[in-house]
Amino acid sequence: MSEFLSNEFIALRPIEESDLEQLRTWRNAPELRERTREWKALTSRDQARWFERITSDERKDHMFMVMHKQCAIGVIGLCGWNMHDRHAEISFYVGDTENRGKGYMSTALSLLIDWGFKQGLHRIWAEVFAFNIPSIKLLEKLGFAVEGKQRDHVFRDGRFIDSLIMGLLSQDKQRLSSRFDTAESDSAQ
Ligand SMILES: CC(C)(COP(=O)(O)OP(=O)(O)OC[C@H]1O[C@@H](n2cnc3c(N)ncnc32)[C@H](O)[C@@H]1OP(=O)(O)O)[C@@H](O)C(=O)NCCC(=O)NCCS
Repeated sequence: MSEFLSNEFIALRPIEESDLEQLRTWRNAPELRERTREWKALTSRDQARWFERITSDERKDHMFMVMHKQCAIGVIGLCGWNMHDRHAEISFYVGDTENRGKGYMSTALSLLIDWGFKQGLHRIWAEVFAFNIPSIKLLEKLGFAVEGKQRDHVFRDGRFIDSLIMGLLSQDKQRLSSRFDTAESDSAQ
């Protein structure tokens, strides 16, 4: 299937039915489930319903496979797309642990965030568990701010965990881009 967004390093393409088995394997790994709200094991039946939802014309979740050199390495999406209030929630993971820390997701998120704001979104937000330092650092690197802490919001492995709400506004993104432009032109001198 054709690419939706890409640069020289990463491409995003729509999710296909033939991806579902791979997605289920990634999603059902315990280390991934403990970092996301989806703590229940995903069945192929639930997944078929989800796939129907994300491919329908009325979809509110825009989900993509993240590709590096033609290989699928993760998933990303803008969910709960709300064009009245102009916000959406961003969701993301790199499937195999050996593919983490290589810059894949920061590139993929930048592509999707740019696209979302170009479509007219005003705010992109995420919910991240307070212990999930890689995700918090990744979002902060992209300009997201911690907007609030939901204390003891989730219960995992016999204990309550705080969850953070992080957000990026279109004007924050513009400010960051102009800061990077200035830094680039400074370093070019
Ligand atoms: C969080 C996650 C998506 C990061 O993806 P990634 O491709 O490994 O991230 P990148 O290599 O692009 O790293 C970008 C930035 O993220 C932060 N980061 C990534 N891994 C990190 C780690 N292990 N520790 C601390 N910071 C980390 C750093 O700020 C890094 O920038 P730097 O390299 O300049 O220091 C990945 O670890 C993952 O899939 N985790 C499990 C699923 C998950 O937690 N999803 C999010 C649920 S809210």
